[in-house]
Amino acid sequence: MKNIGILLSGRGSNFEAIANNVGSGRIRDARIAVVISNTKDAAGIEIARRLGLKAVVIPSKGKEREEHDREVVSALQEHQVDLVCLAGYMRLLSPWFVQQFPRRILNIHPSLLPAFPGLGAQEQAFAYGVKVAGCTVHFVDEELDHGPIIVQQAIEVLDDDDEHTLADRILQREHIAYTEAINIVLQGKYKIVGRRLVTKITVR
Ligand code: GRF
Repeated sequence: MKNIGILLSGRGSNFEAIANNVGSGRIRDARIAVVISNTKDAAGIEIARRLGLKAVVIPSKGKEREEHDREVVSALQEHQVDLVCLAGYMRLLSPWFVQQFPRRILNIHPSLLPAFPGLGAQEQAFAYGVKVAGCTVHFVDEELDHGPIIVQQAIEVLDDDDEHTLADRILQREHIAYTEAINIVLQGKYKIVGRRLVTKITVR
């Protein structure tokens, strides 16, 4: 049984999808050990409480990045977290944090990386006029929205889309893609070659 730790700052729909999929067995042999928010008003922390999960607020306001990261890492360690899932966590992790969980921190981003990293990815994609948009689940490294890609899901941008309808359809795919990526990582049947995650197959 693996322990998942969730970090979030807001709405929490990706977290809720992960929680539902742990509950239904679509994510196997895992439990959510702790949900941590850096803001006390995050809707996601309410969802965690409602689901009866361990919910912790560790405020980041007014703290140095590493000081806050040390508190978060302590909480993750205290709950023996094996896999950290960033789910709308609006903080950059310090290199020190990343090093505490090598290849054990995932993030979801609402674009087909490396296109449109950073904030407002769906709006950026819409304004650019792309015909295909989507989401990416990737390992977290020391750069923003950058580590090796685990899963991507693409959708078509429709002529009558606006920023909101596009963002909504991407979000539906996010909820599926995150579970797929968690299963890949927890099952460990992959290797990373350069930046490429490939399924481990024995070559004769
Ligand atoms: C999602 O679009 C995710 O890709 C991005 O932040 C948003 C979080 O949404 N990193 P939610 O809090 O999971 O609903």
